[in-house]
Amino acid sequence: IRIYLPQDAAALALGAEAALRALSAEAARRGAELDVVRTGTRGAIWLEPLLEVETPEGRIGYGPVRAADVPGLFDAGLLAGGAHPLRIGRPEEHPWFAGQIRLTFARCGIVDPASVEDYRAHGGFTGLERALAMSGEAIVDEVKLSGLRGRGGAGFPTGIKWNTVRLAQAEQKYIVCNADEGDSGTFADRMLMEGDPLCLIEGMAIAAIAVGATKGFIYTRSEYPHAIRAMRAAIIAARRAGWLGEDIQGSGRRFDLEVRMGAGAYICGEETSLLNSLEGKRGVVRAKPPLPAIEGLFGKPTVVNNVLSFAAMPWIMAHGAQAYAEFGTGRSLGTLAVQIAGNVRRGGLVELPFGLPLRAIIEDWAGGTATGRPFRAVQVGGPLGAYFPESLLDTPLDYEAFARAGGLLGHGGVTVFDDSVDLARQARFAFEFCAGESCGKCTPCRIGAVRGMEVVDRITAGIQPERNRVVLDDLLELMTDASLCAMGGLTPVPVGSALKHFPEDFDAAHRAMP
Ligand code: NAI
Ligand code: SF4
Repeated sequence: IRIYLPQDAAALALGAEAALRALSAEAARRGAELDVVRTGTRGAIWLEPLLEVETPEGRIGYGPVRAADVPGLFDAGLLAGGAHPLRIGRPEEHPWFAGQIRLTFARCGIVDPASVEDYRAHGGFTGLERALAMSGEAIVDEVKLSGLRGRGGAGFPTGIKWNTVRLAQAEQKYIVCNADEGDSGTFADRMLMEGDPLCLIEGMAIAAIAVGATKGFIYTRSEYPHAIRAMRAAIIAARRAGWLGEDIQGSGRRFDLEVRMGAGAYICGEETSLLNSLEGKRGVVRAKPPLPAIEGLFGKPTVVNNVLSFAAMPWIMAHGAQAYAEFGTGRSLGTLAVQIAGNVRRGGLVELPFGLPLRAIIEDWAGGTATGRPFRAVQVGGPLGAYFPESLLDTPLDYEAFARAGGLLGHGGVTVFDDSVDLARQARFAFEFCAGESCGKCTPCRIGAVRGMEVVDRITAGIQPERNRVVLDDLLELMTDASLCAMGGLTPVPVGSALKHFPEDFDAAHRAMP
C-alpha cells in the first residue's frame, strides 16, 4: 500500500521520522506492506506530519500524525482511508487548500521531489520544452506579458531584467538563484526546493535559454541542509534525463548548474553581497550601478532572481503568459506565496492571487491567534516590513497598495502578534537586527542602527522623550535616504510603523502601568 509522508524540514521538525518509524513497525506487526514515498509539504504546516494514503478514491490525508496516534489509526482502517478524527479527506478538497490558487506550488507535497518521471507526469518540463523552440526575445516577451515581478521582495519586472541581460554583449553570462531566504518567518524558497526542486531547475533553464547563459548557481544557506540535499539530487537526476547539460533534449542548447552554500549572513541575500560571496569574497554590498544585469558574477551579465521568480516560469511557459496575468490586480499579477507565521492557529504557506485583503489571511487561513488573545499587530515582509494595526487589515495584497499604506509585501512573510506584543521592543529589535546583520560598508546603517537602539531605550525609559523623538525621526530619515542598500534603508520601516500605529508602547508612563 502506497503512503506519502513529507520529509520537508518543517515536517521533520514536527516528528515525521518518529511517525514513519511507528507506521513501519505497526504495518510489520499487522503484516501490511508499505510503499513509502517521501514528498515535500503541501504547506499546511499546522497539519504536519500530514500522512496520505493511496486509496481507490484518491489520496486521503491524516494529520497531524504523531507516533502515538499510529496504532489507533490502523485500528480505524488507515490503509483503506478509514474514518478517524485526524482524517482530513482528499487534501485538495479541504477548505484550506481548495481556496488557494496553486500555480508555482501546484506539485509541492504531491510529487516525489527526486523523480524526473513523476515531475513529467505532473506536467513538468512542458514549459522548458516550449522555451527550447523559441528565441530568447520571444521568451522575454512572454515574461513581460505575464507581468511577473521579482518575488524576492523588490517586485522589479522580471522581463525587463532578463532583457537587459539578453541584450548585454558578453562571451559568458550567468543565472544566479538567490535562495538565501533570510527574512524571519519566511520559508517559501526552502519549501519549493525541498518539495519540487525540478521546478526551480526548469525555471532557471528557461531563464538561461532566454538570455543566452550557460552556467547557473543556486546560492543558499547552510541552515537549509535538506533543501541542499534535495536540490543536488534533483540536479543529478535532471542531468541524467538530459534536461541539464551539454545538449538539452537534443536542442543544441546547453546549461548546467550547481548549488553553493553560504554561512547564513542576512546581508548575503542582498544580490551584490551574494555575488561577492559566490566569488569567494567577503559578503559586502557593492555599489550599484553597475547593475548585476550588466556586470554581475565575475563581472559578467547575470540574472539574479529569487527562487520563486524562477519557479513561476514553468507554469507561465506551459500555460501562457496571458493565463498567468489573469490572476492578480493592477500591476501585481499572478500569485503570491504567503507565509503565515507567528502567533497563529494555522501556520503555513498559501498561494493566492494578488489582491486579497490581508484580513483574509489572518482570519480565514491563519484562523486567528494561537493564544486566543486579541490580535494586535502583523508584520508583513520580514524584519524590514511594517507593523500594521487592525485598521490596516483591509489593505489588499498588492505591491502598490502596501507601499501606499507605508509597508511592503517583500517576500510574502506574514507574522502575527497578539495583544501581549510590545511594539517599542519590536522597534528596538529592528535596530538590533540591523546592527547585527549590517555589512558595515556605509555609516548610516553601521552606526545608525546602534544609535537607534540607544535612542529607543532612552525614549522608553522616559529620558527627555520629546527631544529623543526628534533625534529618532532624524535618524530614520537619514537611514532611509543615505544607506547604500535595503538593509539600512528599510530598517526605518518597522521602527516608523511601530511609532506611528502604536505610540502608546513608547510612552514611559504607559509602560509603567501594570
Ligand atoms: P532593488 O529595487 O534595488 O532591485 C531590484 C532588482 O531589480 C535587483 O535585482 C536589481 O539589480 C534589478 N534592477 C533594478 N533596475 C534594473 C534595470 N534597470 N535593469 C535590470 N535590472 C534592474 O532592490 P533590492 O535591494 O535588490 O531588494 C530589496 C528588497 O529585498 C526589499 O524590498 C525586501 O523586501 C527584499 N528582501 C528580501 C529578503 C528575503 O529573504 N527574500 C531579505 C531582505 C530583503
Ligand atoms: Fe552594508 Fe548596511 Fe550599508 Fe547595506 S545599508 S551597504 S548592509 S552597511
